[in-house]
Amino acid sequence: MDRLRVAMITSECVPFAKTGGLADVVGALAKTLRSMGHDVIVVMPRYRQVDVQRFQLRPFFQQMCVWMGDREEWCAVHSTRTEDDVPVYFIEHNMYFDREGLYHDAEFRDYPDNPRRFAFLTRAGLQLCRDMRFDADIVHVHDWQTALAPAYLKVWHWNDAVIGKTAGVLTIHNIGYQGIYPAEHYPYIGLGWQNFTSDKLEDHGRVNFLKGGIYFADMVTTVSPTYARETRTPEYAYGMAPYLNAKGENYVGILNGVDYSHWDPAHDPLIPARYTRDDLRGKAICKDALQRRFGLEVSPEIPIIAVVSRFADQKGLDVLAACIEDIVDAMIVQFVILGSGDRNLEQYYGALPARHGGRIGSHIGYSNELAHWIEAGADFFIMPSRYEPCGLNQIYSLRYGTLPIVRNTGGLADTVEQYDERTGDGTGFKFEELSPHAIYYTVGWAVSTWYDRKHHIAKMRRKAMAQEFSWEDSARRYVVVYERAIRNKRGGHEQ
Ligand code: ADP
Ligand code: GLC
Repeated sequence: MDRLRVAMITSECVPFAKTGGLADVVGALAKTLRSMGHDVIVVMPRYRQVDVQRFQLRPFFQQMCVWMGDREEWCAVHSTRTEDDVPVYFIEHNMYFDREGLYHDAEFRDYPDNPRRFAFLTRAGLQLCRDMRFDADIVHVHDWQTALAPAYLKVWHWNDAVIGKTAGVLTIHNIGYQGIYPAEHYPYIGLGWQNFTSDKLEDHGRVNFLKGGIYFADMVTTVSPTYARETRTPEYAYGMAPYLNAKGENYVGILNGVDYSHWDPAHDPLIPARYTRDDLRGKAICKDALQRRFGLEVSPEIPIIAVVSRFADQKGLDVLAACIEDIVDAMIVQFVILGSGDRNLEQYYGALPARHGGRIGSHIGYSNELAHWIEAGADFFIMPSRYEPCGLNQIYSLRYGTLPIVRNTGGLADTVEQYDERTGDGTGFKFEELSPHAIYYTVGWAVSTWYDRKHHIAKMRRKAMAQEFSWEDSARRYVVVYERAIRNKRGGHEQ
C-alpha cells in the first residue's frame, strides 16, 4: 500500500472543538492513519475556544487570500501538532469564527451566515493545500459543513498544478443536517449557476451543501453499514435517497472505531476506580460514587440506567420522557441523565430528580468527566434513537461493561448483539419500534434479567467488555475507499 497524502477539512476535531461524535471520529481517524504511515493533515477553524497557549498555536501564514465567488477574503493560518504528531492548521477569520459557539449562539439560534462561514472554511482549506504545496491524494471532508470541497475540486481546481488530481471523499455523519440555505448566498459560494440544478446543488430553490457534496464526491461514506442501507430509503434519507442510490457502489458504510486510549476502564484517569473484565471491583466503587454524586439511594443491588446525549430529536429522548416516570414507579431501578440541547427536554429531565428523589439523577450541561463517571458507574445505557448513523456511547458502554438498551437502527444495530434469554449470549437489549411501550417493555426485560438471571448479566458483561471496535480496522477500510476514490477521479467519473 502506498503512503497516501490526506487533508481532512473539518468543522470539529478533538481536542480542539467538539459538539458531537464527529470531532472524536476526525481526531481518531487522523491519528490512526498517521500511525499507519500516511501523511495526514487536519484543517479547521480557529474558533474562540481554540486556546493559543493551551494548544501551542504558532503562526503559519500571516495572510492568506481566499477567493470566494464574488469577493476575496483574507485570513491568517496557525498551526500545531496533536500529541500524536498530526499537524493541525487553524484558519483564523475573526469575523466568522471568533464567536461564542461553533454553529449557534447561547440561545441555540443558528448563525445566519453559517453557509458563508463554512463555504469559506472549505475554500480556505483547499487554498492552504495549494499555498503550502500539500499535493493531497485525498481531501476528506465531513458532513454538510465541508461537503463542498469535492465540488470546488472539480469546478475550480480541475487543472491545478498542486491539487488538480486530488480526489474528494465525503463522510456523512448525520443526514438530518444538510446545510440548506437561501440562494442569495450562492454567488458568494461561487460554484457557478450552471451547477445550481436539481441533480447537483439546488434544492427547492435553495442551495443544499450536502447534496452538492454527494454529487461531486469521488466516494461517499457514512459511519455504519446499516445506516448506509437505511439512507438509501426515503424513510431515513431526508430526501437524499435518490442521490445516494445514484452513487451505486461509490457509497459505503464504515463503522466508527473507538479511541480506547480515552475510553477504557482499565486505565481511564477520570473515573473513581479502574477495573477490567477479570476484576470488576472497581466498577462497584464507580457505581457507589455515581449514586452519591447524583443523590441516589446508595445500593449495589439497584440497577442504574444511564443517558449521555445531545437532546436532539434524533435521539428519541422525548419518547423516553413519555415512559420514564412509569418505569420508576413500577420497577426498582434508577436513572442518571446527562445532556443538553432542546429546551423542553432540558426542563423536563432537569426537574425529574426533585419529583423522584433518590431514583432519578440528572445534570443538564456538557461534562466529559461526568460522561466517563456515568459510563463506569451505570449498569445499563439507553439509546432510544429515531435514527443513529453510528453512535459512540453504546460502544464506550460495551467496554465499560454497561449493557446497552438500544433501538435496532443504524450503528446501534451493528454494534449491539441481542440478548438470548436461553443461553445468556449477547451484549445488550434491542427493540424495533420507537414507542413508550417498547421502551417500557425492553427496560423491563433488562431489569428482570438483572434481578432474576444475574449469571446472564455477568456473562454479557464479559462479552461486552471483550468487544473490539478498533480504529485500525476502520482506518484500513477508509484506505480502500481512498484508493477507489483516486481511481474514480482518474477515470474521470463525476459520480
Ligand atoms: P452524536 O455525535 O450524534 O451526538 P455520538 O454517540 O456519536 O452521538 O457521540 C456523542 C459524543 O458526545 C460522545 O463522545 C459523548 O460522550 C459526547 N456527549 C454528548 N453529550 C454529552 C454531554 N452532555 N456531556 C458530555 N459528553 C457528551
Ligand atoms: C453523528 C451521529 C452519530 C455518529 C457521529 C460520529 O453525530 O449522530 O451517530 O456516531 O456523527 O460519526
